[in-house]
Amino acid sequence: MSAPMTTATGAAPGTTPNATTSATAGTTAASPRPLGILAALPQELGDLIEAMRAESGVRTITHGQRDYHVGTVRGAPCVVTLARVGKVAAAATVSALIHEFDVEAIVFTGVAGGVGSAVRVGDIVVAETLLQHDLDASPLFPRFEVPLLGVSRFAADTALAGRLAAACERFVAEEGAACAARFGTREPRVHRGLIVSGDQFVASAAAVNALREALPDALAVEMEGAAIAQVCYEYGVPCAVVRTISDTADDHAPASFVSFLTEIAGAYSNAILARFLEARGAAG
Ligand code: ADE
Repeated sequence: MSAPMTTATGAAPGTTPNATTSATAGTTAASPRPLGILAALPQELGDLIEAMRAESGVRTITHGQRDYHVGTVRGAPCVVTLARVGKVAAAATVSALIHEFDVEAIVFTGVAGGVGSAVRVGDIVVAETLLQHDLDASPLFPRFEVPLLGVSRFAADTALAGRLAAACERFVAEEGAACAARFGTREPRVHRGLIVSGDQFVASAAAVNALREALPDALAVEMEGAAIAQVCYEYGVPCAVVRTISDTADDHAPASFVSFLTEIAGAYSNAILARFLEARGAAG
């Protein structure tokens, strides 16, 4: 394992945390364990790292080719990072958050393709369960089941997902109409249920229909969530996943994804995480 490298940037005067390369880099004996927050791509994190820089200063620790940003946002101690794209990248990143930063829980934020018939671009999906749709060791094991673990659907933490969904509902109540007008989407709806993950960008009617047929209750498809949920399950760490719908995983998906990612995703993420972290910070 390579040694983590530490960089402190932009800290507010008097609030710079001490640089450290210890295994529990985000905490001291007295401080609460941080929340791990991650997304695949920078646009999906919104202004989270800037908000951290303004509030507490940021200590950046480089480990396994990723930068982990340690600080406080809305009163909540956090470690924020980018997983990059795909299940392996996500699993490696969340493993580091657990082992190097001793996070108390994990929240993943980002965009997804809509799969459920009622799920439209601009809606928000909070996972109750997550499954790897491209995992198939049949006939040795049932399709979708993780061999030797005996699990196909990994549950998000009920309390954490409930607080995330509550933050989404508050965002929609307070800013949904303005958001729809600003971005030309319909007023967002919040859905809760199954998110499926695989190492493919799903971008054809045939592919999304095959997913619907195999997994009729799937609401959204993306490329990281179920991998994170599996690692969290194996280590007993609570996790929650929130996804804003950037496309409907059909032939229009690439164009819809790119414009949503560049123009809208960050605003949604900022609005949802601000409300979620405020509540968490206030709870101490
Ligand atoms: N993330 C956003 N849209 C997606 C899609 N259509 N397939 C996989 N991951 C996605």
